[in-house]
Amino acid sequence: MDKTIELKQIRNEVWNLKESPLYQYRTQNKYYPVIGEGNHDAKIMFIGEAPGEHEAKQGRPFCGAAGQVLTEMCTSIGLKRSDVYVTNIVKDRPPGNRDPLPEEIALYAPFLDKQILIIQPDVIATLGRFSMRYIAEKYNLGDKITGISHVHGKTFEAWADYGVITIVPLFHPAVALYKADQRAILFQDFQVFKSFI
Ligand code: URA
Repeated sequence: MDKTIELKQIRNEVWNLKESPLYQYRTQNKYYPVIGEGNHDAKIMFIGEAPGEHEAKQGRPFCGAAGQVLTEMCTSIGLKRSDVYVTNIVKDRPPGNRDPLPEEIALYAPFLDKQILIIQPDVIATLGRFSMRYIAEKYNLGDKITGISHVHGKTFEAWADYGVITIVPLFHPAVALYKADQRAILFQDFQVFKSFI
């Protein structure tokens, strides 16, 4: 089936996900669910945590301040946002930007699993510890991908259903907004993608 049609099906399912604890908050605030954006044949897929307010207002991932950092990092190695695919593990905004709850991650993760199968990226880059933990466990790398401060910017090989993939855990780009040294680390870690483009 056409990738765009399959991704639209995911959008429709999330749109109607009334059993989500975040559904009422979404509708009361006239927010949108944020499914994902970018190249449906992307080699690199970035997975963040959950939409913030900007994202929920626009229905687009990483379109606020953290997204600006992500775009700058892409540009720094000659990548355009339209070359990559960007999504989150949780598709609706948690109230007040609180951390997503385990039951929210469990509810939304099957949509991410489907997105990975549709797009079939060579590289999955996790942004922050929530997507890192989920992807590490999904690909049986839980014993290798430990604390983010040890593994950020490193590459881990795993078997996806469609072949070998590389997992790259990264700090969440929001850290670059308030810590200059973390920003430098993120940009440094981003160099790893040069060998995949
Ligand atoms: N932070 C995230 O994890 N995802 C977004 O889409 C925006 C900010």
